[in-house]
Amino acid sequence: MCVMARYYIEGGARLHGEIKIHGAKNAVLPVLAGTLLMDECTIHNCPALTDVTAACNILGHLGCKAQYSGGSVTTKTENVQNFEIPDDLMREMRSSVLFLGAIVARCGRARVSLPGGCELGPRPIDMHLSSLQKLRVEISEDHGYLDCRVNGKLRGAVISMPFPSVGATENIMLAACTAEGDTVIHNAAREPEIQDLAGFLNAAGAKITIGENGTVYIKGVEKLRSTQYSVIPDRIAAATYLCCAAITGGSIVLHGVIPGHLNAVLPILEETGCTIRVKYDTIELTAPERLKPARMIRTMPYPGFPTDSQSPMMALSCVADGTSVFVENIFESRYKHAAELTRMGAKIKVEGRVAVVEGVESLHGATVFCTDLRGGAALVTAALKANGKSEIAQISHIERGYQDFDKNLSLLGAMIVKR
Ligand code: EPZ
Repeated sequence: MCVMARYYIEGGARLHGEIKIHGAKNAVLPVLAGTLLMDECTIHNCPALTDVTAACNILGHLGCKAQYSGGSVTTKTENVQNFEIPDDLMREMRSSVLFLGAIVARCGRARVSLPGGCELGPRPIDMHLSSLQKLRVEISEDHGYLDCRVNGKLRGAVISMPFPSVGATENIMLAACTAEGDTVIHNAAREPEIQDLAGFLNAAGAKITIGENGTVYIKGVEKLRSTQYSVIPDRIAAATYLCCAAITGGSIVLHGVIPGHLNAVLPILEETGCTIRVKYDTIELTAPERLKPARMIRTMPYPGFPTDSQSPMMALSCVADGTSVFVENIFESRYKHAAELTRMGAKIKVEGRVAVVEGVESLHGATVFCTDLRGGAALVTAALKANGKSEIAQISHIERGYQDFDKNLSLLGAMIVKR
């Protein structure tokens, strides 16, 4: 039986140095789904992540060629003949539901197994389904599978989202860009990854514009043409490395970032006493010896504080000189990492969507288990500061979303080994 790899970390090293940030996982996944809408495509700045592999496996299962090499994925879709995503592939990655709109648009049919719950709570897909139904997709449930079909062509519609769901917004864009007529999405998600998906689809001939208030306007076109596209850098990975540097009292430079994408994160890091210098595509952070607490962190849809940065920010709050209050407004249960941080000596009280973190002088190393992608990154962040050795288990969660996480941290001077 293969023993799952673990990270072994000796805390105490201040991080110093410079790294380049990889392409955004949450941009490349919907873009890969969008490659179904054109014959050929090459996506650049594609991170080497297990979620990207999972998306390429789905494309392969549908009959596409999806080749990853040297940071780019090339797709050929002329042989698409399947419209079903089987259970095992759906369970491999919760965001496989992003393929639904593109498969229906390409094949007129789609059959996917209901995505299981996930580590962040139930994560329903009601908004995905109700929006697709407005585009004339008929959806029925059949033994744990969703059977979707459209008689004739998809037709544009005016859709008002009850909540600015990122995935549901992306599913609508993918289904509507080759539908008959126009689609408007009110209260759409406004994450940079939405803009990036629109940029990719427009490069292939779609007609998508996004208004000042985030409303998405789509004019349906007959077909999309082959194209090449480079996705944006990963703002969440960037924020995570900044938290790693901050907790260790270090000083690092991140290259290849879009600083504006971190407008809600940088001020919170400054509140903890870090000095931030921003240039065109770099962010430099220098941390104080002891962090001050960030008093209140409320996660919100973009441009608010990103839920994906909540757990790394909680890790650094554990050793701040005071108390921090977190309110997790996006996901139902996104504090599973708190129990693991407590094993390292953190003082955290969780009550529903609220977590109160009372900063302590120091954490101690422990063996801890990753509960989800960003929660796992938080455990690494804390272990970099903890006195003594830590073992981080179930790091497959982390490798879904951080390319070369241990290598980059080693480059910055962390004492971390993967084996
Ligand atoms: C995307 O997830 C990201 N994933 C998440 O990143 C990110 O945390 C999230 O957006 C919020 O920014 C990808 O882009 C692949 P949502 P998504 O639909 O699309 C509820 C990471 O760590 N909801 O905006 O699933 C849902 O349960 C991941 O990289 C419904 O109720 O997020 C959640 O509570 C984690 N019904 C809230 O809305 C629906 O139909 C936000 O979900 C859809 C969503």
